[in-house]
Amino acid sequence: MAESLAIAILAAGKGTRMRSKLPKVLHRLSGLTMVESVLASTSKINPTRKIAIVGYEAEQVKSALSAVADIEFVEQAEQLGTGHAVQQVIPVLAGFTGDLLVLNGDVPLLRPETLADMLKTHRDNGNATTILTAELADPTGYGRVFCDDNLIVKEIIEHRDCTTTQQENQRINAGIYCFQWSALMTILPHLQADNDQKEYYLTDVIKDLSPVMAMDVPAAEIGGINNRKQLAEAEALMQKRIKDELLLSGVTLINADSITIDATVMVEPDVIIEPQTNLRGHSLICSGCHIGPGSLVENSTIGPNTTLVHSVVTDSEVAGGVRIGPFAHIRAQAVIAENCRIGNFVEVKKSTIGAGTNAAHLSYIGDAELGNQVNVGAGTITVNYDGRDKHKTVVGDRTKTGANSCLVAPITIGPDVTIGAGSVLTKDVEADCLVFARSPQKTVPGWQPKYLRKAQLGQPSAEL
Ligand code: UD1
Ligand code: CA
Repeated sequence: MAESLAIAILAAGKGTRMRSKLPKVLHRLSGLTMVESVLASTSKINPTRKIAIVGYEAEQVKSALSAVADIEFVEQAEQLGTGHAVQQVIPVLAGFTGDLLVLNGDVPLLRPETLADMLKTHRDNGNATTILTAELADPTGYGRVFCDDNLIVKEIIEHRDCTTTQQENQRINAGIYCFQWSALMTILPHLQADNDQKEYYLTDVIKDLSPVMAMDVPAAEIGGINNRKQLAEAEALMQKRIKDELLLSGVTLINADSITIDATVMVEPDVIIEPQTNLRGHSLICSGCHIGPGSLVENSTIGPNTTLVHSVVTDSEVAGGVRIGPFAHIRAQAVIAENCRIGNFVEVKKSTIGAGTNAAHLSYIGDAELGNQVNVGAGTITVNYDGRDKHKTVVGDRTKTGANSCLVAPITIGPDVTIGAGSVLTKDVEADCLVFARSPQKTVPGWQPKYLRKAQLGQPSAEL
């Protein structure tokens, strides 16, 4: 039987150095909260128990995590340090035998493979504890790890508690520890807060455990986020990782530095993404799409071979072969079928648009259901809002709305209808007809404005 593994994520701190009301671990990196990224890094090690230690704004942290995982919460009412945080799991893990992997909630760049390697190293060597370390050119702020040539660790000393000579040690503690729970249990209850910060440091258990082994990992994976500068640096690393993976999988990124792509976005091969494009949330971009320049896609699916130029698509579904933009806005559960065209300055909100329908210029289509091959004339507006409620517009297949027509909802227009330009329609229209609603055109011969009439005495001017 596989040995059992529990994980504990430390997520109770406020993160004072972030200078934010939001708890530090809820700040986002490439679309994921820091603590979600930490949890995602454990995806290859199959823990039997998952615990998060919460404190500052606990409810917010709990709801963010329980939305994505089956996880237990332990409250650390007062944040007295990382050692104190782990002490809170003692009652919860009563009777547990196995390993406890402790992860700082502010170390979001770890790869799942690294944690799998760590666990293997820990078990293969029968370590009491294994910790992740790295040698940093600038180790300022991190705890320093003191070990021998075989990476057997003697102690960890926090930066602020180090002597000047000790600060020269470049091997840092990443804040990721794998403990034999039974060994940790003998030490953990006895921590003292005898340090510069007067906190109970988890790192203080190390000197009393044996053997403790350090495992060096790439510096890019173990950056801890304490302030927004480090958040920005981590974001850049995360973006590079996401983009490198996409490039190698067959996605073209033109001027990749100007593009942002969330970790949650899926992009199929043979997609071209142009500069200044941002892909966010749970989005899928299918093969053959050409997205950008200057576009935003959020929580949306874009079908194969669709093009999107200088446009915004949020919370919507666009099928294949659709041409969108420039300057279109598709939002709020809009559903656009194959081969449509949604052109310049067209907004589509919470509407379904049938296959082959064109809305090429200057329209608002809201709360509407348009059939197939409809032609939406330039400037057509669905008048969906009466100041209190939203109402629905239905337009049948192959109908052509005239330029500048207003469809005052609720209204149903049948299929094969032609609507005269400039019409304001307030009543339903049956199939197969021409409909228009506008004042007839009048011509007044010889009419002149009043100020000219006086000057030309004797010449009667035509009156309206
Ligand atoms: C910690 C380590 C340091 C290491 C660094 C790596 C200690 C004493 N120091 O320092 O050796 O190099 O991480 O990034 O552990 N937290 C709680 N409860 C608390 C205090 C903190 O849950 O009472 C959580 C925080 O929310 C955070 C994590 O623990 O997610 C780390 O705390 P932080 O204060 O950032 O520790 P560092 O000073 O960075
Ligand atoms: Ca930290």
